[in-house]
Amino acid sequence: MNIILLGPPGAGKGTQAQRLVAERAMVQLSTGDMLRAAVKAGTPVGLQAKAVMESGALVSDEIVSGIIGEMLDTLGADTGVIFDGFPRTAAQADALDGLLATRGRTLDHVVELEVDEAALIERIVGRYTCAKCGEGYHDRFKLPKVAGVCDVCGSTEFKRRPDDNADTVRTRMAEYRAKTAPILPIYEARGLVQRVDGMADIDVVSRAIAAVLDGVAG
Ligand code: AP5
Ligand code: MG
Ligand code: ZN
Repeated sequence: MNIILLGPPGAGKGTQAQRLVAERAMVQLSTGDMLRAAVKAGTPVGLQAKAVMESGALVSDEIVSGIIGEMLDTLGADTGVIFDGFPRTAAQADALDGLLATRGRTLDHVVELEVDEAALIERIVGRYTCAKCGEGYHDRFKLPKVAGVCDVCGSTEFKRRPDDNADTVRTRMAEYRAKTAPILPIYEARGLVQRVDGMADIDVVSRAIAAVLDGVAG
């Protein structure tokens, strides 16, 4: 099964993708995570992407489509993929069609996480992750079970994203409205889109997504 998690910054794409990975034999392909890894490693892609990401604008379609293609080639044909943060433009949606078709894959679901934009700022500025394993946390909504210790790997080091500040978030939201939301009709026309209330508790959202994937959603 191949699915897209679509929604604005802070909608919960990464949170829900991590859960699907833990619960199902699926792999998360997050262009944001891959670009951040490239920036950290100082690769040519990372050098090009760094300033763009810090401004909240979108990295070029060629770069992100290229890294998705490379990642798909590392996966077995039977491994299900969760696309997190890709595609984000009409050109990327087109590219994805080609990338899937040439690899004999089909797209099964596009899950749109519906959220209230005003709430997203709080989600984003409160977000942090484990520096070692990448598990996501939030100052208010998702604290580690033992304060200061990662639930998953026991690390005591955490980090925050440079683009998680109120100013950059506004640019990221504007990019979403202008370039990403308009790709929904492409998938609606194919009957692939199902909407999930992304404002509910994390567990409730997970159950709603599971219902979509298991074909029991209304
Ligand atoms: P990317 O990393 O994709 O960032 P984003 O889309 O802005 O999305 P986020 O990662 O901020 O949000 P999320 O939906 O994953 O939310 P999360 O689960 O963490 O992209 C970053 C940048 O990279 C872009 O700006 C661009 O420059 C570049 N880029 C990436 N992909 C690109 C592409 N395809 N094309 C071009 N450029 C690209 O949740 C947020 C917080 O809320 C967490 O703290 C979480 O614990 C909490 N939370 C989650 N769900 C809930 C809930 N139900 N209730 C309460 N709290 C919740
Ligand atoms: Mg994310
Ligand atoms: Zn950890």
